[in-house]
Amino acid sequence: MTDTLADSRTSSRTFVEGVPVVVEDVRRRPAAERQAVLADPGFGRHFTDSMFLARYRAGEGWVDARLTAYAPLQLDPSAAALHYAQSIFEGLKAYAQPDGSVATFRPEANAARFVRGAKRLAMPPVPEPGFLAAVDALVDADRDWVPTGPDQTLYLRPYQMAVEPFLGVRPANEYLFLVIASPAGAYFPRGVQPVSVYLSEDYIRAAPGGTGEVKCAGNYAASLLAQEQAIAAGCDQVVWLDAVEKRYVEEMGGMNLFFVLGSGADAELVTPELTGTLLPGITRDSLITLARERGHRVTERRFSVEEWREGVADGSVTETFACGTAAVITPVGEVKARTGDFTVGDGTPGPLTMQLREALLDIQHGRVADTHGWLHRIG
Ligand code: PLP
Ligand code: COI
Repeated sequence: MTDTLADSRTSSRTFVEGVPVVVEDVRRRPAAERQAVLADPGFGRHFTDSMFLARYRAGEGWVDARLTAYAPLQLDPSAAALHYAQSIFEGLKAYAQPDGSVATFRPEANAARFVRGAKRLAMPPVPEPGFLAAVDALVDADRDWVPTGPDQTLYLRPYQMAVEPFLGVRPANEYLFLVIASPAGAYFPRGVQPVSVYLSEDYIRAAPGGTGEVKCAGNYAASLLAQEQAIAAGCDQVVWLDAVEKRYVEEMGGMNLFFVLGSGADAELVTPELTGTLLPGITRDSLITLARERGHRVTERRFSVEEWREGVADGSVTETFACGTAAVITPVGEVKARTGDFTVGDGTPGPLTMQLREALLDIQHGRVADTHGWLHRIG
């Protein structure tokens, strides 16, 4: 993998100091094949022609940064990530802009979170400029794969994993950093329809001192059984409660949550505070800003299941929605729990939920001015 192919060239991009991004000559699928995928991409099933790859070796640092053909990896069967899940990932999107350019949304925030994740898993962090250069290089190379249909995007998946062949339990000495890209339509096949949720009382996602505030692979493996339980109970998604008292609402599946109190211009928003067991979502952060700018009070605090249930019953909690990069904003309709089921509002998407969704999508797709400097153009 260290050999530079004859038909590759060094790009003007640098991954880390002294390590240029080498661009290999990648076979591109014919336009008709690409168009067929872009017509109905789904989520996370199709991948573009290229991927970004860099290697880390203790003593050498980051080396061998390249854009290469999207292809299976060769890993030693004893590679540490396969055994001990020393592995993190990110998720962000590139959006086709009305002027024909392409932009990612707040990639600096993903780069910073990736560094925090690496540190938590005792991995050498990818320097933030290197993360941004890698994402830019891949989107630039595969910009033909950025879909232009309504609400379609190119979902980007940077990730880092320990590949040293060694079965001892300690931080590895060798890592891969990759970025792959997947043209995407709606994350939930039913689009923006409200989801039904199941409160997980048997399983927890994250505990104080654990890894809940970073995007490490193991968090998602540990969530699957609770998600299966939610489906068996007839729900779409699991809602996580705090690990200690099982009383406070934390997240929904892989998304943050917001509760709307009241209605109209005076409506207030509450979102669970970042106690260390929640993922600090970039969508969450963006929506806090957008809601405050629209004059809504937004409070980050603990929010209990009783407060949710009683608020829905007395009409003070009018809407609930989940948010994240993949699905943007998803209204929550029905809630199922051992202690009794309830429906938020009349079970249809609430007005503030839909207004904030439109406001965020308008910025991301370049339909309104980007007054926050959130879009990062790829040129
Ligand atoms: N919570 C969890 C557990 C997640 O995996 C994600 C998605 O990445 C989010 C929340 C939302 O984060 P973001 O808005 O940065 O995509
Ligand atoms: C999100 O972007 O909201 C996610 O949770 C990503 C998911 C596919 C892991």
